[in-house]
Amino acid sequence: MIYARISGTGSYLPENVMTNHDLEKIVETSDQWIRERTGIEQRHIAADGETTVDLAEKASRMAIESAGIDASEIDLIVLATSTPDKIFPSSACILQARLDIHGCPAFDIQAVCTGFVYALTVAEKFIKTGSARKALVVGAEVFSRILNWQDRGTCVLFGDGAGAVILEANEETGVLSTHIHADGKYENLLWVPHGIADGYDEVKQGKAYVEMKGNEVFKMAVNTLGRIVDETLDANHMKKSDIDWLVPHQANIRIITATAKKLKMSMDQVVVTVNKHGNTSAASVPLALDVAVRDGRIKRNELVLLEAFGGGFTWGSVLLRY
Ligand code: ACO
Repeated sequence: MIYARISGTGSYLPENVMTNHDLEKIVETSDQWIRERTGIEQRHIAADGETTVDLAEKASRMAIESAGIDASEIDLIVLATSTPDKIFPSSACILQARLDIHGCPAFDIQAVCTGFVYALTVAEKFIKTGSARKALVVGAEVFSRILNWQDRGTCVLFGDGAGAVILEANEETGVLSTHIHADGKYENLLWVPHGIADGYDEVKQGKAYVEMKGNEVFKMAVNTLGRIVDETLDANHMKKSDIDWLVPHQANIRIITATAKKLKMSMDQVVVTVNKHGNTSAASVPLALDVAVRDGRIKRNELVLLEAFGGGFTWGSVLLRY
């Protein structure tokens, strides 16, 4: 049996930090409201000209180094983003050129905040079927570019960043199961309503911004994440108590706490970065994973549950032995 196992992780956050107090100067909000409703204290914002691929490249180089491989050994690149540098080529192809890798397949995945879970799922299938042996899987976003900075209901929630892993074929253990879902009927609860369909000017004139009915998304996220946890455990004939670490999508501390409660997990076993990173969409799960691997919390052979929920709606989970 061939498994896909994470052999290295990396992440990158832009230097510029925006605190809740900085946001008080931009929109009618307060540090207290943001902390109480979301758990967010600060987020990182890309500098002018700093792009998704810039962040992805830094995270990828770290992951490659921690896996102890040479970039030329990578035979698959999957990059999850909703904020690609260009309409085309894909950000994965731009990243491939930056890393001086030539010839292997490289493509983007668009599943908003579930993007990394989707990307990991796809890469795992390539490895399991023998189509790839060393995959670079990235989640990277500059969500700050698609925010309406006059809409306090959204602009306080998001941040920029990137996370990456190297996924390698391994005969012993690694990803145990993946579960991905979507239901497009909820499109207008969380979306960027404008795009190419309306004519390119809508995008160029900066009308293509995130819009969200936060309260409705919140309820859906809590219920759906509860179900995906059950689905994952059932598929692996495991008990809640078997899981060592929960690495959830970092949208809101209240959603994370609700999922941990459902799992009967202490918050000590939950990786939380939303306070420092905000919601970095597709980057949030690999960023949180890298933080917890590097600070020594997540150790080899521990059982880790990754989960996410996002626009689409999309949702999913990955259960892996790290
Ligand atoms: N500062 C101060 N007040 C605010 C702010 C703000 N930044 N934003 C909204 N408010 C006000 C509202 O106007 C409302 O006022 P009213 O009662 O006078 O009408 C009040 O606060 C409550 O608003 P709600 O939207 O009901 O607040 P809620 O408790 O639901 O929190 C939040 C909002 C944080 C957005 C929450 O709903 C949430 O986290 N939703 C889920 C987000 C998520 O999981 N997204 C999925 C992934 S994202 C992706 O895929 C791109």
